[in-house]
Amino acid sequence: MQIIDGKAVSKSVKESVKAECDELKAKGVTPGLAVILVGEDPASQVYVRNKEKACEECGFYSEKYAIPADTTQEELNALVDKLNKDPKINGILCQLPLPSHLDDKEVINRIDPIKDVDAFHPVNVGAIMIGDYNFLPCTPAGVMELIHSTGVDVSGKKAVVMGRSNIVGKPMSMLLLHENATVEITHSRTQNLAEITSGADILIAAIGKAKFVKADMVKEGAVVIDVGMDRDENGKLCGDVDFDDVKDKCSYITPVPGGVGPMTISMLMKNTLTAAKIQNGIQ
Ligand code: GUN
Repeated sequence: MQIIDGKAVSKSVKESVKAECDELKAKGVTPGLAVILVGEDPASQVYVRNKEKACEECGFYSEKYAIPADTTQEELNALVDKLNKDPKINGILCQLPLPSHLDDKEVINRIDPIKDVDAFHPVNVGAIMIGDYNFLPCTPAGVMELIHSTGVDVSGKKAVVMGRSNIVGKPMSMLLLHENATVEITHSRTQNLAEITSGADILIAAIGKAKFVKADMVKEGAVVIDVGMDRDENGKLCGDVDFDDVKDKCSYITPVPGGVGPMTISMLMKNTLTAAKIQNGIQ
């Protein structure tokens, strides 16, 4: 069994983004990312801080809008409109979840699709469906990079994606399908779950249930990717996969933390770079 080092893969992605950013700067273009954080959710604050740090590492321009939890929909919309028009800003990310009086969908739909570096806008989601896209959603794209880092060829393999969220499960399935995997999606109503997951050459867990995936649900020699960010019974950060139970059965496995998490941010940097290139007519 080999542990996939998400931090190392993420670092190498960021290094190549930085190198390309330096080339863009020589042409007078600095990629710019605006991050909107509404309210004071502690987890969101950490994510946003990490995004700012990654911008610095890659040489990007960044703006952070930490606005109060009682911001109105109109005020948030006005901020998105302003950023849509700002030529210094190539990417806009509104950290989710939003406070309950605000509508995620309204904000996502308002971001100019060419600045939607999360790839959450229906235009970008549709583009992914037909395989003709500018941006890939950060977490599934990061998972694909981790799979590629193992050298395992996805083509023709059976991939099982546990979870059907719009942010991870659904786009994840599409990306695997684009690389010619035979894809099955499981969810909370799936019957005979272990039977399905234990047939997977590539198993992606994105269900948000701490240590849910046990050895009897995993095929011998499988590649296991854990998208979960959960807390165990002692409040310690863990994934959807019971790492200690599963590790000896698979060929490759991602740890939590240090697996998928660091990749999400480096893919965001890649998308922001792409956005800057497109908006400045550079290919
Ligand atoms: N909250 C948790 N993950 C994400 C993400 O990838 N993008 C945004 N905007 N918010 C998130």
